[in-house]
Amino acid sequence: MPDTRHLLDIDQLQDSDLEQLLARTLALADGARPAVVPQTVVNLFFEPSTRTRVSFELAARRLGMTVINIELDRSSSSKGESLEDTAATLAAMGVGAIIVRHPETGRCHRLAAGLPPGLRLLNAGDGSGHHPSQALLDLACLKRAGIDVRGRAIAIIGDVRHSRVARSGLGLFSRCGAAELRIAGPDSLMPEVLPQGVTRAASLDEAVRDADVIMMLRVQHERMDQQAWPDPASYHARWGLQTNHLALARPGCRVLHPGPINRGMEISSGVADGPQSLILEQVRMGVYARTAIFEWLFGQDGNPAP
Ligand code: NCD
Repeated sequence: MPDTRHLLDIDQLQDSDLEQLLARTLALADGARPAVVPQTVVNLFFEPSTRTRVSFELAARRLGMTVINIELDRSSSSKGESLEDTAATLAAMGVGAIIVRHPETGRCHRLAAGLPPGLRLLNAGDGSGHHPSQALLDLACLKRAGIDVRGRAIAIIGDVRHSRVARSGLGLFSRCGAAELRIAGPDSLMPEVLPQGVTRAASLDEAVRDADVIMMLRVQHERMDQQAWPDPASYHARWGLQTNHLALARPGCRVLHPGPINRGMEISSGVADGPQSLILEQVRMGVYARTAIFEWLFGQDGNPAP
């Protein structure tokens, strides 16, 4: 095991790490007791977040960790301090891990390269880069709902170009043996280069036909130059998932969305609140996945301390 573990992306994880994280997430969801991790963790979020930030915090508290949320407009970063210096300052105070969400793609990888020894880094989303904890919780959520992604057809629809959720999810689902990975959405929201093993469907109908899993994505206006494009009604008419689309998918198909959801844009309320939706289950599994991630990060074996 390396001296200091980080969670930066899915690719860095060995198969054994993935197996451990998935099994432990499911065990925690089934009622296993979290370990005791006597460490301090600091949330450094340079972008808005509800579920990711809160679920990391809840997970840390369940492990007995001390959690500190730095409000970035009240911290030294607003006085020009670099993230590297903030990290070194926190490490000097004995902080064991920082959770970073940042608008710049690649920022967590860059930060990890120069961290003080012993300070662990969790990537909670870097620009359009990676969001490994989301991919892990999505996989666990599907498994718990009875869907093993091996051999399955998975459709990811919407703003794939700007989505770190899609990037991490596609990487993980492909590693876990998904048979078909399809993406679909407007031209301007498709990646410039199609990831290996991924096909592009021309329409929403084509993307969802015989799919076992449909993941819908929010249009990330904050990562685009165009203001408030595309308009919600025309987007919904062409790319919004509605209940009639579910009839094209495999019976038992489940719907994912990392949230926040924009009802009437990428997804209708009928689907979001319907029986095939796993959206709130994803939120619930997020706490267990992040508990398992902390245990893994600090080398705990997952057994409660005596
Ligand atoms: C996503 C994110 O921040 O990348 N949300 C999340 O973490 N649950 C997706 C999004 O913002 O649309």
